[in-house]
Formats: sequence, C-alpha cells, structure tokens
Amino acid sequence: MQVDLNTVDWKTLPFGYYDTDYNVRCYYRNGQWGKIEVTSSKDISIHMAATCLHYGQEGFEGLKAYTGKDGKVRIFRVEENAKRIQNTANRVLMAVPPVELFREMVHTVVKANKRFVPPYGYGATLYIRPLLIGMSPEVGVKPSDEYLLLMFVTPVGPYFKDGFKPVDMMISRNYDRAAPQGTGTVKVGGNYAASLLSLAEAKKLGYSSTIYLDAKEKKYIDECGPANFFGIKGKTFVTPKSESILPSITNKSLQQLAEHLGYKVERRQVPFEELAEFSETAECGTAAVITPIKKIVDPVAGKEFTYGDGVNPGPVCTELFTKYTAIQFGEAPDPFGW
Ligand code: COI
Repeated sequence: MQVDLNTVDWKTLPFGYYDTDYNVRCYYRNGQWGKIEVTSSKDISIHMAATCLHYGQEGFEGLKAYTGKDGKVRIFRVEENAKRIQNTANRVLMAVPPVELFREMVHTVVKANKRFVPPYGYGATLYIRPLLIGMSPEVGVKPSDEYLLLMFVTPVGPYFKDGFKPVDMMISRNYDRAAPQGTGTVKVGGNYAASLLSLAEAKKLGYSSTIYLDAKEKKYIDECGPANFFGIKGKTFVTPKSESILPSITNKSLQQLAEHLGYKVERRQVPFEELAEFSETAECGTAAVITPIKKIVDPVAGKEFTYGDGVNPGPVCTELFTKYTAIQFGEAPDPFGW
C-alpha cells in the first residue's frame, strides 16, 4: 500500500513499509558491478536455490533522508553505511559494493522518490533500506558468484509508536542474539531472525523490547537487537564495548555529540549490575533514534531497575535527542560534517 500523500498524517506515521514509486538495483555478475537500474517493480526474480534464501548469505543497511527546515533534503552519514555494508559483505563472503556505487544508489533512490520524503516539522523521515543478497544457485555451502544490491525507501515515523517516550525493556536470559566472533558485529538478517523469539516473549509480557547480555559470560550488557544501549552516570555517557554488537552509526554520532557537549564518553564493558548506577538509560539506532528506557526488568534474577519519573525522558537524553535531531533536520549547524 502507498501512503496517500493528500491525506497522510505525518505526525502519526508508524515505522512501517509503504510502497513508493521506484527502487534501484545493481547486479554483480562475472566479477563486476553493472549499471544502476531504476525500476517500479516490487518483485525480484530469484532462483529457488539462491544462497541468500537457504544459507542466509545476505546483509542490509538502514539510513534516513530528512527534509530540513530550509526545505533541502539531507541524507545522514551515507559513507558510514557504505563502509558498514562492506564489512558485512566481507564477513559473509559477498561481493563488496564500492562506497561510490552505494552513495550513487542512495542518491538515485531518494531523488526518484522525492515526493515521499516527509515534509519538515513532523519528525518523520524517508527510511532507506539497502539490501545485498547472494543470487547464484548453490546447494553446497559456498558463496554465490552473483549478487544483487537493491535499495528501496519508505516514509517512516518513530520505531516505537510513542516516539521519544520512555519504554520498558526485559533482559533476555533464555536467548542470545549473537556470539563473540560470530556475526553480531555485522548487519546480517540472521541476527534479527535470532532475536524474534525473545522479542515475541518480551512483548507478550508487556515489554517493548529486549536487552541482550554477552553470550559468553552473561555478565555484560550487549545491545538491544535493533538498537545499541547507553547509560548516563553523572556527566558520563557509557556504552558497551563488545565483540558481538553492531557498531551503530547513531551511537558513534551520539558519542561525538556528547563529547562536544562536555560529557565524558566511556566505551567499555558494562556489567549488568551497573544498571543500578545509571541515572538514565536508552536505546539508540537509526530507526530508534534515542528511545529512553524507564524500566529494565530481569525476570530470571528477579531484579528491576527504574529510571526517571516513569513518564518523561531524562534531561541528558532530552538534550542529546534535541541537539542530534536539530542537526539532522538542519535546524542547527553541523560541526561534525555529517
Ligand atoms: C536501523 O536502525 O536502521 C535498523 O536497521 C534497525 C531495525 C529496524 C532492523
């Protein structure tokens, strides 16, 4: 379904898929990337034995285009996503898309769908989803010879329906998301498939999402699945360092911003018990932006950690969110060249 641009309420737009006019594709065949193709077809013709389907040889990205206060459309840190999909491609032995190709495809797909970039003033954005998949038929476990890099877009509102409002989270004790030296540091679909069951269980119990601990010792905070984690302690921004979390571009940017605002940034192992010492905690990611957390429950250990007044985001999350989104929407100067 397409959003009806005449009647859409951009303020209440959910984070969901809507058809737009075009998507862009580029095939890797005979050892080289071909020409960028623009198409309105939503279908892919794919061999039933393609490596992406049964061996999960695929990776994806997520980034956004923003209509600024000045009416200009800006894309946030596209090179960072390009480099991250290169890391993903290297990890699961896929053809590596050049940064320039990635950037050109992002620009092409946004321009082709310009009428779907939400207008300024509602907090809504155009979400860009690049997808890289192994296309050759194989039955032995080996990498594909051919790949498709595809990008589609969809206009989105906040990832969690209430937007910048605190949520409740549950520690996942029964399931891990990714293991050290596994694929947790890259953006492959399998990491997200592995999170679905614990997410469903958390939702059934009334939590919006889960927090994963490190798979080896179950002692340290890893990440939230679709987003990274950070905590605030006085004037310090603390975020986990781990061998199994995705290097979030939002988190990296927030660390830069926090330092710029005079906070100390610590990227290190975060023991689970330290949850009791934070004044604020939050999830952060392209989709989640900053989603403050008001309660973290560990049903197995019988522990509960609460933050703030249980209704409003804390002052540091508010400051970071306000300043970060002001840069993204062109309301404030960008001292970082994002
Ligand atoms: C993003 O933040 O862009 C993500 O990829 C998270 C999620 C929607 C899978």
